[in-house]
Amino acid sequence: MDALSSVVSRLQMAQHVVIFTGAGVSAESAIPTFRDALTGLWSRYDPSLLASPEGFLSDPDLVWGWYEWRRRKSLLAAPNAAHRSIAALANCLPELTLITQNVDNLHERSGSSPVLRLHGSLHHPRCFNCATPYPLPEGIPDEPDGGRRLPPPRCGRCGGPVRPGVVWFGESLPEPIWKQAEQATDHCDLLFSIGTSSLVWPAAHLPFQAKQNGATVVQVNPNATTLDPVADYNLRGLAGEIMPSIFHSLQSSLAARSAP
Ligand code: OAD
Repeated sequence: MDALSSVVSRLQMAQHVVIFTGAGVSAESAIPTFRDALTGLWSRYDPSLLASPEGFLSDPDLVWGWYEWRRRKSLLAAPNAAHRSIAALANCLPELTLITQNVDNLHERSGSSPVLRLHGSLHHPRCFNCATPYPLPEGIPDEPDGGRRLPPPRCGRCGGPVRPGVVWFGESLPEPIWKQAEQATDHCDLLFSIGTSSLVWPAAHLPFQAKQNGATVVQVNPNATTLDPVADYNLRGLAGEIMPSIFHSLQSSLAARSAP
């Protein structure tokens, strides 16, 4: 039995599946992965300058401009077959928990709900000072392709600068969401790690924690990562190809099992 068939047979028996995604699940939607996003105009900047409170305070226009450029790309992008297959899997499994490191909204737009967002969202900015949510204007920001410096809007409540609603370097993950993610990881019997370099902790710890708790770990990534030696299955390839194959194989197996 090949690896993909073994994974599908594990999936048929699973009671609680966790799907843990990174930027690679959105790569086929033409959203650059985090480290790719520092291409072109942004390549000369240090990520910690663009994705940290200190960086924002020292140059708010640069940071807000970069995130508006990323938000525009997220809004112009469409969910791909990986997002759609993950959403569809939830309807044919006893329990599925989706945990993402991504800050785009493609999982939600493909029908997944709820989505445990460990690193926040491009689409929910808030005031840097009083944390009041900032209502973004409708529509797609009219950003030149490479992005530009842009002064952040001001908070309607206190007048402070509005910041992106993502977790920055040096900031903690949202506690309630992290707790839910850890609980799901502790109780799952099968975890998929899809499209992540497994480099950024504590998020990257989740697949290792699942393995320690006896779950089967499946990695989907065209490249090797630090998770390789721990994963039970390393499916080398694109999420947009592997996840639909897994979903369709599972559907066929379930149909055959329920046939008279
Ligand atoms: P990375 O850019 O570090 O890694 C993306 C991974 O996706 C790589 O391992 C690629 O090999 C893989 N990949 C690329 N295309 C793929 C495809 N079509 N199918 C499957 N895999 C593919 O992005 P993340 O691991 O998500 O934090 O980065 C984790 C965090 O680092 C991000 O959430 C970001 C950053 O700090 C915040 O933005 C808060």
